[in-house]
Amino acid sequence: MPEILERSTPSVLTTEEPSQAPLEVHRRLPSYEVTPLVRAEAAGLGALWIKDESSRLGLPSFKILGASWAILRALKGRLGDLGPWSDADELAALLARHGPLTLAAATDGNHGRAVARMASLLGFRALIFVPEGTAAARIDAVESEGAECVVVRGGYDDAVRRSAERASERCLVISDTSWPGYEEVPAWVIEGYSTIFWELEDQLERSPDVVMVQMGVGALAAAAVRHYRRAGLEHRPYLMGVEPLDAACVLASAQAGEITTLAGSQHSIMAGLNCGTPSRVAWPVVVEGMDAFLAIPDERAQEAMRLLAATGVVSGETGAAGVGGLLELLAAGHPRLEGAAVLVLSTEGATDPVAYERIVGAAPGA
Ligand SMILES: Cc1ncc(COP(=O)(O)O)c(C=O)c1O
Repeated sequence: MPEILERSTPSVLTTEEPSQAPLEVHRRLPSYEVTPLVRAEAAGLGALWIKDESSRLGLPSFKILGASWAILRALKGRLGDLGPWSDADELAALLARHGPLTLAAATDGNHGRAVARMASLLGFRALIFVPEGTAAARIDAVESEGAECVVVRGGYDDAVRRSAERASERCLVISDTSWPGYEEVPAWVIEGYSTIFWELEDQLERSPDVVMVQMGVGALAAAAVRHYRRAGLEHRPYLMGVEPLDAACVLASAQAGEITTLAGSQHSIMAGLNCGTPSRVAWPVVVEGMDAFLAIPDERAQEAMRLLAATGVVSGETGAAGVGGLLELLAAGHPRLEGAAVLVLSTEGATDPVAYERIVGAAPGA
């Protein structure tokens, strides 16, 4: 049996209806398109839907949805109302009046690249901190956005600490995780992810029975909870969070009944999920709203990448973790899955193309 923690009673949390304001902002950013929903076959399931986030606002992961919304909200807080704008150029022109700013962030790849892309669109400088051991492809990707990338000794939590130290009058820290006294921006990041779920409302013919969401600090999972536990929703899907065995900080926290930091640094190939501590703003939502937490070995993510490639979806190690969780449950004969309509998020494309080719046996999209 996989390492799994299931709540004995169904989750009862009800949240307010998430706003569609982030979606309206995202529609005005360059390259906005609704990301594809792929229908796949899987024995024993009623349906399998894969939301493919391999290309989102011109980047290979969903993370820019949270970064862009949080940056705009933080700018409004710092500079006041910016006035009307209909595209990124108009927004940059409005911001130019306020002089240059720096955006700082910690990342294991995708969030930092998203912050760096937004900085370059808005005419700002970006300073991005990555943990040591971050794949060269991920560092190159951040630098390709014009950002300065600083490699920090230690893991993701250490990179977060270093980025937090840079907060100043002219430097906004845009983190997707939270700590005491820093909770607004990560809450906006969660709001930004709501776009995925609003798009799904139009794409799915019916509400899913089971939703698998991969978890790093838990912000994406919190967005899923906010959406699928909103007031007035009749069909409340079973929500399962998936983490790497080596970085199961949400599972460990759920077991302990409080936020828990894992010892040492985390080294899963699911790089985006290598987090040692859940986000303080995501945690209460996730622990109340999710039905189960599951930890999977790296091999499951690799298997999932190959299966996704066979259905035409390019997905990196972190991106495939939701399908990896599904494979783990199918192998264990989990009763929830029988005839169920399952929604899985494939949250990134081939963010490390060398590793992708080694694991899948073919170049991305070949
Ligand atoms: C591709 C991808 N998927 C999922 C996640 C997990 O998101 P969260 O940290 O909000 O739990 C991340 C985090 O960086 C990511 O990069």
